[in-house]
Amino acid sequence: MQVAFATHAGLTGLSPSDQLAADELEHRGVTVTPVAWSAPGEWQRFDAVVIRATWDYYTRPDDFRDWLQLLEDSGVTLWNPAPLARWNMNKGYLRDLSRRGVHTVPTEWISPVEPSPSLDQLARRRGWADVVVKPVVSANANQTWRTNGRIRKEDEARFRELASRGEVMVQQFIAELANEGEWSFVFLGGEFSHAALKLPAQGDFRVQAMYGGTAAAVEASAEYLEPARSILKNVPWPWLYARVDGCFITGKFLLVELEMLEPDLLLNLDGAAPARFAESLLRLLAGRPERAGT
Ligand SMILES: Nc1ncnc2c1ncn2[C@@H]1O[C@H](COP(=O)(O)OP(=O)(O)O)[C@@H](O)[C@H]1O
Ligand SMILES: [Mg+2]
Repeated sequence: MQVAFATHAGLTGLSPSDQLAADELEHRGVTVTPVAWSAPGEWQRFDAVVIRATWDYYTRPDDFRDWLQLLEDSGVTLWNPAPLARWNMNKGYLRDLSRRGVHTVPTEWISPVEPSPSLDQLARRRGWADVVVKPVVSANANQTWRTNGRIRKEDEARFRELASRGEVMVQQFIAELANEGEWSFVFLGGEFSHAALKLPAQGDFRVQAMYGGTAAAVEASAEYLEPARSILKNVPWPWLYARVDGCFITGKFLLVELEMLEPDLLLNLDGAAPARFAESLLRLLAGRPERAGT
């Protein structure tokens, strides 16, 4: 069986976590080939394409959508499926989840075509001491920044500039995320696999490794897992993998992101997770999706 792991042109080979998954697939007789999504690939020669390190999609979202369409039109088996990938590309999915009762970070959605209040007006109106600003199509904390104590002229200018280029989210700054850490609950083939707690570097608020953030394996009790499980019930497509990111504030889970497009699955943090990934994919490809998330 031939499987492509879709990556990006800036990456040679696979991420360390994905390499562990590929090794487990190879042990089971599957050939895994890393292919940049933007390369003129012969996708039809693969039995399946798994979206993995396509981390630059946000720089070319229209091209990425075209690529998803191409795969769909060519009948290539894709995990996670194209409609789910499209939905998850734009953080507007958080608005959908919030409407369905999921507890998400309080957010103002700023459209580039409507006149927007200033950042200061927005923050005052909502009673937020500090805000985080990010584009709705973004990954790896790209263009994601926070105010610090008060909203300065430079913050307003940066906000206006970003908002002139596309839809922007302004969120309440959640101090617990940086202070207590961001939880990641990784699910494979519909079932919980493992959990991690991510912390930013001293003085930063972003937990991404490229800004010095770290991730450590943690045990998740049934009580801690329950919100993540229940959030996933709102996803109307089958899926191979999901990462539910958020924090607990006085015991209540607050969703920051539901990553179902190209998350780092942190397979290196759990000895059994790479095999779980391989088995979940093979089950789906054998047409036994009964344990896949729906
Ligand atoms: N509202 C917020 N309050 C505090 N920290 C935040 C907030 N939103 C994001 N962050 C920090 O910035 C990081 C990147 O933002 P996130 O929404 O996860 O986007 P992405 O991971 O797609 O870049 C998060 O992992 C978290 O560390
Ligand atoms: Mg994130």
